[in-house]
Amino acid sequence: MTRETWKTQVGFILAAVGSAVGLGNVWRFPWMTANNGGSAFLLLYLCIIVLVGVPGLLGAFVIGRRSKRNPVGALRSLSGGSRLWGAFGLLAVCTTVLLVSFYTVVGGWFVRYTAASITGGYFADPGAYFGSVNYGLPAFGFALLFLAATAVIVYGGVERGIERATKLMMPAIVVFLIALIAWTFTRPGSMDGLTFFLSPDLAYLRTHFLDILPAAVGQAMFTLSVGTGTMITYASYLGEERSLPFDATTIAVLNTAVGVLAGLLVFPLLFSFGLDVGSGGPGAIFVSVASAFSTLGLFGRVLGVVFFAVVLLAALSSSISMLEIPVAYLVDERDFSRGRATGVMAGVVAVGAAVCALDASVFSLFADTLVNLLMPTGLAGFLLFVGWVLGKNALSEYEAGAGPLGRALGSPWLLFVGVPIPIFLLFTVISRLLSTLGVSAAPLSVLGVTVASSTAVLAAAVVLTVIAVLGLRRPDSVF
Ligand code: PHE
Repeated sequence: MTRETWKTQVGFILAAVGSAVGLGNVWRFPWMTANNGGSAFLLLYLCIIVLVGVPGLLGAFVIGRRSKRNPVGALRSLSGGSRLWGAFGLLAVCTTVLLVSFYTVVGGWFVRYTAASITGGYFADPGAYFGSVNYGLPAFGFALLFLAATAVIVYGGVERGIERATKLMMPAIVVFLIALIAWTFTRPGSMDGLTFFLSPDLAYLRTHFLDILPAAVGQAMFTLSVGTGTMITYASYLGEERSLPFDATTIAVLNTAVGVLAGLLVFPLLFSFGLDVGSGGPGAIFVSVASAFSTLGLFGRVLGVVFFAVVLLAALSSSISMLEIPVAYLVDERDFSRGRATGVMAGVVAVGAAVCALDASVFSLFADTLVNLLMPTGLAGFLLFVGWVLGKNALSEYEAGAGPLGRALGSPWLLFVGVPIPIFLLFTVISRLLSTLGVSAAPLSVLGVTVASSTAVLAAAVVLTVIAVLGLRRPDSVF
C-alpha cells in the first residue's frame, strides 16, 4: 500500500497550522498568561517560541519526513531498530492520548457554549454559568460529541478529512478575532487590559523567572504541537520538495499571531468588565467573552454562536491531529485497519475524557502539570535523537528543499538542538518536577559547598545531557 501524502502544496502547511492553532492559543494561552504575570509571561513565551519552538519543530519535521512513519516506527527505524527508542516513541504516543483526553473536555465546553449562545443561557451570570457547566456528567456528554466529530474526520483519512476541514477554519478564526478586538477597544477600561498583557514587566520577570519558566515552556510546546509526535506524523506525509525551515517559521509565526490576537481580546475584555484576571483559571476565555456577548442582546447571541463555533472548528483541526497519532501508530505498526484503529482509540480517549470531566483536579493535573512536564521531555528526547542519532542524515534531510538562507543555518541548528536546547528543556522539567513534588527551593549543600537550588538543577540537566550525548554518539554524528 502506498502511503498517503498531502494533496496540495499548501495542504501540509494548512494542516500543520491547523494542528498548532487551537484551544492552546484561544483558551490555554490566556489562562496561563493570567496565572503567570501577564506581560512577563508573554515575553518569556515569545523568546521560547523563537529559540526552542522553531528549532524543535524543525527537528520533528526532519524525523517525520526522513522516516515516513509514526513516532514509534520513526524512532525505531531511524535508529536501526532500537527498542529503547521505540519505547520513547510510544511515550510520545501515550502523551498524545493523555492530551486529547482533557482537550476533548474543553472542546465539549465550546460545543456547549455554542449551543448556549443560541438560547442566551449564560447571559444572566456568565461567571456562575461556567462554574455550573465545567465538570460533571453533562460536561462528559458534550465532550463525547466533540470526540465523535474528531473521530469521524480522522476516520476520513489524511486527504479527504484533515486537509479539507482545515482550509476553511484558519481564515475564519483570524477575521473573527480581529473584528471582536476592534469592538473591545471601544469599551472603557480596555486599555488597562492591554497594559497588563503588553507592557513588559521586567521586574516581575526577574523575581519570578523560575516560577513561570516551566509554564512558558509547556505552553510553547503545547501551542506548537511539538514534543508529542504530531508534527513528526504530519511531516511523514510530506514530499522532499518543501523547505522545512520555511515551513517551520511560517507555522510558528501564524500560530503565535493567533495566540497574541486571543490575548488582545481576552485581557481588555476582562478589565473592561471589571473581572478578576488571576482567578479566571481555565474559565478565563469563557467568562470574559461570554460577559461581552451578554451585554449585546440579540446581536450578542449571533456573535456568540459564530465565535464559539469558529473556535470549535480550530479546536477540531487540533484534536484530529492528536487522535491521528495513536491511530497512525496502530495502522502502521499493529496492522489495524483505519476504521478499527479509530474506533479503539476513540474508546480509550472517552475513558480519559470521563476522568477529566468528572474531576477538576484530574483535569488540571492533565492540562497544566502533565503538559508542562511531558511535552518538554518528549521534545528533549526527539532533539537528542536528531542531533546525535541522525546527525549528518538530519542535516541532509533538513537541507532537502531548503533555500540558501535555510541551508546556511543548518549546522548551527543541528548543534543548537543537540546540546543547549536539551539542557534547557531538562532544566525546566526538573525544576517543575521538584516544585510539583513540593521539594523546597532552598539552597543546597553539595559536598560542603552551598549552591542555589537552581544551580544544582542546571548542573543536573547538564550532566544528564552529557551522559545522553556520550551514550548516543555514533560515527555519523557530526560533532
Ligand atoms: N497545538 C494545539 C493547540 O494549541 C494542541 C496540540 C498539542 C495539538 C499537541 C497536537 C499535539 O490547541
